[in-house]
Parts: sequence; C-alpha cells; structure tokens
Amino acid sequence: MGVKHHDFKRCDQSGFCKRNHAFADDITAKGRGASPFRLDPSTIRTKNGIVEGTILKQLSDTENVRLPLTITFLDSGSARIQIDEERRQKGDIVLRHDSKARKERYNEAGSWALTGAGLQPQKLGNFNKGDDLATVWWGPSDEFTATITYSPFAVEFFRDGKKQVILNERGFMNLEHWRPKVDKPTKEEGKEEEKKDEPAVAEEDESTWWEETFGGNTDSKPRGPESIAMDITFPGFQHVYGLAEHTSPLSLKETRGGEGNFDQPYRFWNADVFEYELNSPMTLYGGIPFMQAHNKDTTVGIFWLNAAETWVDIVKTKQDTTLGLGGHTDTQTHWISEAGVMDIFIMLGPTPKALSKKYAELTGYTAMPPMFSIGYHQCRWNYVSDEDVKDVDHKFDQYNIPYDVIWLDLEYTDDRQYFTWNPDSFPNPIGMEAQLDENERKLVILIDPHIKNKAGYPIVEELKSKDLAVKNKDQNIYEGWCWPGSSHWIDCFNPAAREWWKTLFAYNKMKGVSPNVHIWNDMNEPSVFNGPEVSMPRDNIHHGNWEHRDLHNINGMTFHNATHHAIMSRVKGELVRPFVLTRAFFAGSQRFGAMWTGDNQADWGHLAASIPMVLNQGVSGYPFGGADVGGFFGNPSKELLTRWYQAGTFYPFFRGHAHIDARRREPYLAGSPYTEVITQALRLRYSLLPSWYTAFREAATEGAPIIRAQYYVHPRDEAGFAIDDQFYVGSTGLLAKPVVTEGGESVDIYIADDETYYDYNTYKTYKGAGKYHTVAAPLEKIPLLMQGGHIISRKDRPRRSSGLMAWDPYTLVVVLDKNGQAEGELYIDDGKTYDFEHGAFIHRSFDFKNTKLTSSDASSKDSPKDTKKKPAYLKTMTGVTVERIIIVNAPQQWRNLLNVKITGSDVISGAIAGVTYHAAEGGNAAWAVVRNPDVKIGNDWAIDFEVAGGAKSEL
Ligand code: NOJ
Repeated sequence: MGVKHHDFKRCDQSGFCKRNHAFADDITAKGRGASPFRLDPSTIRTKNGIVEGTILKQLSDTENVRLPLTITFLDSGSARIQIDEERRQKGDIVLRHDSKARKERYNEAGSWALTGAGLQPQKLGNFNKGDDLATVWWGPSDEFTATITYSPFAVEFFRDGKKQVILNERGFMNLEHWRPKVDKPTKEEGKEEEKKDEPAVAEEDESTWWEETFGGNTDSKPRGPESIAMDITFPGFQHVYGLAEHTSPLSLKETRGGEGNFDQPYRFWNADVFEYELNSPMTLYGGIPFMQAHNKDTTVGIFWLNAAETWVDIVKTKQDTTLGLGGHTDTQTHWISEAGVMDIFIMLGPTPKALSKKYAELTGYTAMPPMFSIGYHQCRWNYVSDEDVKDVDHKFDQYNIPYDVIWLDLEYTDDRQYFTWNPDSFPNPIGMEAQLDENERKLVILIDPHIKNKAGYPIVEELKSKDLAVKNKDQNIYEGWCWPGSSHWIDCFNPAAREWWKTLFAYNKMKGVSPNVHIWNDMNEPSVFNGPEVSMPRDNIHHGNWEHRDLHNINGMTFHNATHHAIMSRVKGELVRPFVLTRAFFAGSQRFGAMWTGDNQADWGHLAASIPMVLNQGVSGYPFGGADVGGFFGNPSKELLTRWYQAGTFYPFFRGHAHIDARRREPYLAGSPYTEVITQALRLRYSLLPSWYTAFREAATEGAPIIRAQYYVHPRDEAGFAIDDQFYVGSTGLLAKPVVTEGGESVDIYIADDETYYDYNTYKTYKGAGKYHTVAAPLEKIPLLMQGGHIISRKDRPRRSSGLMAWDPYTLVVVLDKNGQAEGELYIDDGKTYDFEHGAFIHRSFDFKNTKLTSSDASSKDSPKDTKKKPAYLKTMTGVTVERIIIVNAPQQWRNLLNVKITGSDVISGAIAGVTYHAAEGGNAAWAVVRNPDVKIGNDWAIDFEVAGGAKSEL
C-alpha cells in the first residue's frame, strides 16, 4: 500500500515550478533589485476605485514586455490585483504545431469561481502619486492603505496603519512572456553565436519551454512558457491556514526543507491520487487557492484566482530583536501557476470570521442543504442488487439504527453506462426507492463524467453527434480510459453540454429514478487511467478553445455545477434542493453541494488526519465535507470502526463507505458492544440535527465553517493556533475531541478561555484557561464538552430518519455561564424546498438572563427575497413545541423550585410547568429540567425561574 510517487510530479519535474524556483534563487542571490518588473509611473491612472498602469518587464536595455496592471479597491475592503500580458491579450502571438488553442491568457476563472457579489469597486479616499511610489487610501475612514512601489514593482497593504501583506517583497514576481521558438543552430553547425544585449536576467534554462514529457506523456505546449508567480509576505504572522485539499496539519508547514518541514510546495492539480499519503503537500482531488494568515491581533487572506497547475511555497522567517522591539515571525509565501492571468485578492481581515464572510462574498456561500443530507449516509462499493439494498434498509430498522440515505456505486449500471440499470441485479429500482421512501429515506446513485465509448449507447451517441465532448489537441474527440474502458468526457464548460446534461435527468428520460434519488459525481478531476498523472493531457481543448492546462482545476466544479442544476430542474416548477456529492472541487464548489476526501484507508492515521482535513475545508470556505467513515481501503478493526463513527458524527458530511474488496461493515454487523456504541453515536448526530442545521445556516449566510478550529473560535489565544484535533460545532459551544488512537482511554482537551465547560452527558465540570484537561474516553464515550453560555437545540425522540423527525418537539439545553447567562440561536425551515427564500422559516434567538429564558424572533438577521410564504409555513409549524428544557449549572436557589411561570403571545395566563432540580454532585454541575413547557417553537415566549422571595435570595 502506498502512493505511487512516480505518477505525480514534484516541483523539479514540473518545468514551470522548477523555473520559478530557479528564478527566485537567482533573485535571492543578486538581491531583489535584480527583479526585471517595474511599474511605469507615467502610465498610472485612477478612476472609480481602480488604479491602472503598465508594468514593464525589462528584457534588455532596449526591450520591454508590456503588462497591463489593474488594482481594484473593493467595497468589502479587499483589493484585487490583475496583471495581464498585452501581446497575448491582443492575440498577437503565433501558436506552434498549428494549434487552434486560444492565444490569450485564460481569464475566465472568475466567471466560475466568483458570484459577482463583493466585486464592486469603491470610491478611493485619497490617491497620492510620488516619485518612487503611489499611495492609496480606501475603506471607512481610510482604514486601508496600499503603497505601490514602482521599481521593482511591489505593493504593501496596511490596515489601521499596520502593515499586513506585502506583494513582491522578495522580488520573486514573474510572468513568462510570449516569445517565438528560436531554433538554435546545433553544435555541429559550429557557428559562433552572435553576442546580443546582455540579458537583464540570467540565461534561462529553456529545456522545459517548448515540450515537456512526464511518465511517457508529452505535452506539446503550443504557447510555450507562460507561467506567473508572486511572492506574498505576511509580516508578523506565524500561522497560515487554508489551501485545501492536502493532508497537511491545519497550520500549514514550511515547504523548502529543513527539519520537520516539507521539501515540496503545496500543489494544486486536481488528481485521482491512489492510496494518498498523510502529512504531505501532494495534490489531491480538489483545490482551493485561498489562504488565511493569522496572529493574535489580526487575520488577513489571499485568494489566488487561478485554475492552472499551481504550487505554493511557505517559509517562516524569525525576525531578530536587535532593535529591542521584540522578535516576530514573518510568513513568506510564493505562488506559482503554469498559465493564466495573474489575479490576486487581498483580504484585510480583521478576524477569521470576517475573512470567511469576505471570501464567501466573492465565491459564494454554502448551498443550504436538504435536511436529509446532514443525516447519516450508508454507502459501499457496491450494494449488489435492489434486494440487497432493501435488506440493508430493513436491517437498519431491525436494529433501530437511524440513517437517511443509502448509496449505489458504479455497479448498479448496465456495463458501466450511466443512466442505465443492470437489468439482472436491479430489475426494480422504483420498487426499491418506494421502500426507502416509506421512511422518507433517499437513494444516491453514482454518475461520472466519463461516457462509455460503445456503439449503440445512446448517451455517447448524443454526446458525439451534438459535439459536446472534450477534444484532443488535434480537435478530435478525446478518448481515454476509465471505469467503462474506452470513454469520452462531457465538456461542462460548454453551455450546450450543460443544457443537454439537464435533459438526461428529466424523469421522463432517466429511467428507474424517483424524486428521492440524488447524485454522486466521482472521478471528475477528471480521472483518466491512462492519462498523464491519471488525468487529461494539458493540450486537450475545451469549449472556447481553451487548453485543459488553463482550467484543469475548475473542471470538476463545472461537472458538479451541471449536475446540481440538472437535479434542480428535473421537473418544471418542482424546486427541491438537490444533493450532489463531488470529489473534485475548486473555489466556489460550496454553492453546489458536498465534497468528501476520497479514497482514504482503514487505519488510525487516516482517521486522525480526517479531522484537520475537514477543518481545513471550513477554513477554505467549503465546509460541507467529510471522510469515508471506516476508511475506504482495507478492513477496520471493530474498535477503529466504532471510533470512526464517533468522529464521523462530527463531520458535516457523514457517510460510511468501503471499497469493493472490503468486507461488509454496516453498523449492525459489528456486534455487541460495538453496534450499540455506533448506534449511540448516530443517535447523537440525529438528536443534534437542529443545531447542525443552524450551523449550516450560518455557513449559508455568513460563510462560517461548520466545525471550527481552536484559532477560529479563540483568535487571540496563541497556544491554540496549531491545535487541529479538537473543534467546536458551529456557534453551539460544543467542543469535541474524538478518540483517534488505538486503545485510547482518555483525551486531553485544551480549554482556551475561563468559562466552565461541562461534559455533554454527565455535566462534569472542566475549568482552567490555557490548559489541557483530561477527559476519560472509554470506547462508548465521545469526549464532548459544552462551553458555558450557550443554548443548544436538540430533538431527542429516536426516529428512523431525519424526515420522520420533522414535527418532533425540541429539547433546549441551557448551559449557564459564570454570570448565570446563556444564549443561542435556532434556524428551522422545511428542509426540502427553497421556500425559505420567501420567508418560510423560523429563526429564534434564545436568551437566558436575570432568571428568565426568552425566545424571540431573530429573522431580522435573514434577508429573504420576500416573505410571501411565511404565514403558510408558520401555520404548519404551530404544533411543534419545546418538550423539555435542561438547565446546566442551575443555581442552588432553585433547589426547591417546583414550577416556572410561562408567558407569551399565545400562552394562557397563569401557565406553569414543573421543574425537577438535581443538585451538584462530585465534580458534576447541578442541573434542572423543565418538564413539558409546551411552548411553540415559532412563537415569542418567556419562562421565569424566579423563586419566591426574589431571584437572588436563598430559600
Ligand atoms: C473512486 C471513489 O473515490 C470511490 O469512493 C468509489 O467507490 C470508486 N471510485 C468506484 O466508483
């Protein structure tokens, strides 16, 4: 077992990465003054929040390359820097090999990744053009400043006078300009070369300019070298996060060697990496070139909008204290892409939360998922027949184990032809779906982007006749090898292909599919078994004549997007939320559904690694993710499987999955006590679904991660910045640290703040800021604490699926903080449709203060398009109540409290509910339960815990 390193490039095997490393080393040796890039001050103009000019790349004393520069100062306080190459922009270049590829640098990444929001330029506060540099002020009360140095070109960004981000501090900026291939005379011809002007930069190594061969595949590179690079420094920042998807720790490591560091940059070239390794900067299935840099005072971000192969170096430099100013560490990064325009967003914070919002403004928010999709998913490669599916479904019920979705991998199809069913093993898919529907369960089936190349298969015939497939460099339909054998690939960059894709999912066209069927898009990097690095040749051609190299990292997202829209429009007028899982992704994929971390292994290391990976998805703006529970390859021990379910309970996307060769491992097969413990973990997930759903709502409206790292929740606590094995669930104050080691009997949970934390089940208290606290964790226990000050919403009645819980009453857990207060929010809607966009939702704010728990409307925080569906929805919810309120850390004065008074808009006067008080015991906090207060979840109400004689008096 192990990744095949020789299948994937290292930086020194990737021509442009190697060239840019060499360029950077050369500049470092000569000093940054040797950088050939300078902004010509005479070209600088400003208009409506935009600064424009021309950067000159000096080739010799007499020859420059013109690079148009645009710096846009955005409404959000972010800035966007775009640099193009005039000659390619004008199409004034000659392509080699008679290529029909586009001549421009790829400039359409934004049309996929950006939503259009947050892109408005804003009025500049002030602009000052000096002899050596220009200064720009913008933002509310000129909060932000940028200084643009002309020679070498560099930009420094300040917030409130403090330097946050520097572009080209080290002079590694590069843009390989177009040049014709000059065939040099061979040595045999024996002529002396004429001496030209002394080049401004050292003689370059041309060996990878015109052709590149790796693993037996040759890239014809019709446009020659065209890479771009920029060095970006974060002064005073020791930690950087983001750059999903890698198996690195959450706090990203250095990449230029040295003890404990990586010796390779983080790489983005979406790929099907078989048996991927842990603790590695190697590329994986998806990529989001967004980075957060963080210190205790501020957080800033970089979004490098580029869809070509990209490498990112990270180096951390300790600055000395010689001036007595106190040492600090700078993080220096170096971003290198093979092609495209340079397009960089600089986000100036000030907090992790603010950054999430700014990034989501640009690339979009997490789509509000259908409720079922945040329940548990049962998958394996493969359930072998419709009877098998029905049997597994029955078994879950027999063992009282909740689940929402069962999945069909590849083998349900007839000969791996998507949109067909194997007639022998799945003779009656509709009957199977009907059984699932009895418990409101769903089916997800796999549809991949490779289409079997087989005569008579109507889908491939249409693909070809409509000319909707990806082409090879000679403009013929591209043929490669994937699951079905010889295949062609749909080109979802083509609007006509997306329209056609939609038609295939219509109920009257797609056979054997009921409304409870949703879709899994796999292999969309794309995975091509016989292609270079298990993908497509870079010189393949997509819609618009763009080369595959230009847009590779977006490819998976375009397929995900096409399927998402296809499911949405299965029937006219039926607007239900689709669920589509993807393996490949890019910035913006959060708008189309969930992702998962691909083919992991059934070992403890992979379980542990899944937590930083899923956390990093949140940091990178794509929080709806999870890892295969149990591990894809191999057979987990029962202990590992159980611990994996306990961890998976906290993945935003929670699915068990296994390889075709792995043994069956449905939770009921594990046997006692494992089955019971796994069931408990699943029940925990289901009971907390209201809180998870509220966390998804925050992702959908604020861009916030769903599970949140220590640095994110406690941005000023430096001791927590590198912690990535524990996390908070949304804004609930729930702090979990799943056991990820074999034989583990306890974990040490780090508590950052001076609030008291309570064990989720026993209310045992943990207190002490900046310290680790040992929490016992025998097999049946998930270490899970509640931070004082929160109100957590649950539904505690065990049901078979989330759909059957829709009308169940709520339990509220009020965890009082050190001042006897708590607050929380709950968001509810129908979990199915888009009616919430028309006001059909409930958003409550719960508040415990001065002996009173109140529920008030928080819907002013939402901005639906209109509220026309609100009254009808609220009517459907009038029967949904709160059946229990638990108050943790209940004051001692309540020990004889028998009843609480309830008031509210439609509460009868004099209403009361009974209270049971449980005194503190040992290390466990006191708690009280209000029994059946029967208040409506959608209404305003208050419950008064005042004891006779006044709140503060001792009885
Ligand atoms: C690769 C996916 O990563 C895996 O989850 C799936 O089971 C196989 N493809 C077969 O479709």
